[in-house]
Amino acid sequence: MCGIVAYYGHQNGISISLKGLKRLEYRGYDSAGLAFLENNQINIIKNKGKIKDLIGLINGEQANIVISHTRWATHGQPNHINAHPHFSMDHSIAIVHNGIIENHADLKKELTEKYNYKFQSETDSEVIAHLIQFFYQGNFEEAFRKMLSKIEGAFGIVALHKKHNELICARKGSPLVLGLGENEYFIASDPSPFLDHTKNVIYLEEKQMAIISENHYEVKDFNGLNLDVEMEEIPFGIEAIQKQGFKHFMLKEINEQPNTIRDCFTGKLRNIEGIGIKLKTNIQRVVLVACGTSYHAALIGKYIIEKKSNIPVIVEHASEFRYRKPMLFPSDLVMAISQSGETADTLEAIRLAKKIGCNVAGIVNVTGSSIAKECGQGIYLHAGPEIGVASTKAFTSQVVALNLLNLFLNKNPYYQYEIAEELRKLPKIVEEFLKNEKVKEIAKKYFFAKHFLFLGRDINFPVALEGSLKLKEISYIPAEGYPAGEMKHGPIALIDSETPSIFILTKDEVYEKVISNMHEVKSRQGKIICICDHVNEEIEQLADDIIFVPKVIWELSPIINTIPLQLLAYYTADLNNREIDQPRNLAKSVTVE
Ligand code: AGP
Ligand code: GLU
Repeated sequence: MCGIVAYYGHQNGISISLKGLKRLEYRGYDSAGLAFLENNQINIIKNKGKIKDLIGLINGEQANIVISHTRWATHGQPNHINAHPHFSMDHSIAIVHNGIIENHADLKKELTEKYNYKFQSETDSEVIAHLIQFFYQGNFEEAFRKMLSKIEGAFGIVALHKKHNELICARKGSPLVLGLGENEYFIASDPSPFLDHTKNVIYLEEKQMAIISENHYEVKDFNGLNLDVEMEEIPFGIEAIQKQGFKHFMLKEINEQPNTIRDCFTGKLRNIEGIGIKLKTNIQRVVLVACGTSYHAALIGKYIIEKKSNIPVIVEHASEFRYRKPMLFPSDLVMAISQSGETADTLEAIRLAKKIGCNVAGIVNVTGSSIAKECGQGIYLHAGPEIGVASTKAFTSQVVALNLLNLFLNKNPYYQYEIAEELRKLPKIVEEFLKNEKVKEIAKKYFFAKHFLFLGRDINFPVALEGSLKLKEISYIPAEGYPAGEMKHGPIALIDSETPSIFILTKDEVYEKVISNMHEVKSRQGKIICICDHVNEEIEQLADDIIFVPKVIWELSPIINTIPLQLLAYYTADLNNREIDQPRNLAKSVTVE
């Protein structure tokens, strides 16, 4: 959600920032802009719309100190005035901000009524620039810190002042990372904008700020105390954030799954006790909190852990969890599941669990992210950067990680051995399956449908939810995911000869039950697409189309069953000419509530 790129160095920071912003496009945005320092003057160029439009406004300008931003509007329309950067009233300061300033209305009221400040935009962010001006008495850093002491909410901020050759940034709730190059520095929302310049980074932690000046940087707390911080090296190269011949990042990421699945369990199967979770107490219960696709993975975890390890599992939407009174106990293991590691609701849920004294851990993809840090322990997915807004490879890795968690909780060495063997076989099976062109053909047959139903029972119910979410997100076609047995209690009214129902079934205890549900659809002239690992005559007669998936053990079946659904969503969206990697209205990491 929103992107920040700032540059201080000897090269042209404008082109570096624009290229960097392009790399953050995947996060979702509606306007873009930059500010640069030239002869003790700050210039701002900004625009509603895409980065390519912003590039069109650049007239050969060059600068060594630049801040830039892609905005995902929370307060005020996506338009030119509300786009960042924002000036202070006297144009001495420019800021970019990611997040929400919750007390902006009070601050604005005070500044306008008592001190006659004039605001230009409807954003909550503009108040930051005015406050720095308000406090400025010759010391930029001090004014910045005083501003920090006034604002509440979530923020990643970078500011520049026309009289100071400095960049000052701060974070609370929204990510910021410093890139340390050769006599040049970068500040960004994630390392992708500067990966071709440096892999050396410092992830700012909560309530840390940094001051960058010529050939020098300092990291401090909000009181101005210098901090010793560790530099880290990014474990992947520029190729991880390039499409490498694929039409979209999403298709690339779907095809990466044989490797990402393997990378998630590599090194962990031999010593399942050491997967990264230390329990303070014996646990009575597992509570999984997550949003969106990660929530669907959590539901799969519940089916697996309850059935195979006899431990009760509660799965919660993080956004609901934090605002009701969750019944948590110190004997709970509360786990956050998140690809980005920055989802605001999931992060808060973990903070709440920590206050109660629960065992806490994370299943996270992005190393060094806020949730990973807040949890302090857990399982990293190691799926590499996921750029497509629709989560694919992170989801299958989450299911692998939840299987690892199940093995950790299960303790039975025979069971652990059996699943470990099955996991080792899985990447090859997925690789073979990805060669299948069947899903593409099926998409060509149904891409114009106005509505889809996704139906499954047992562990395939969350798979149905995930299939419908993928389709909705990137093709904008309404889709319902439902437990197949629940259909007759309502959604069956949607069935007609135009509506495709996608059944996901595995040859398990509920196989026959799902076939009965297929009859219910067929007898109402509905079209049936069946994803299954075992086809009998009945299915052959009922289904209009069949996608045959290889047989794998029940615990891993959601992985092999989800891949055709990812592909179906992808090809359907592509045939409908959608913006697959950056679907409308969506942001890759949702850092606001
Ligand atoms: C997935 O396709 C979605 N874009 C979205 O539902 C996502 O899974 C959700 O926002 C949670 O994100 P996280 O895993 O980064 O916490
Ligand atoms: N809340 C700010 C705005 O609406 C910043 C949004 C963002 O993170 O892009 O302008």
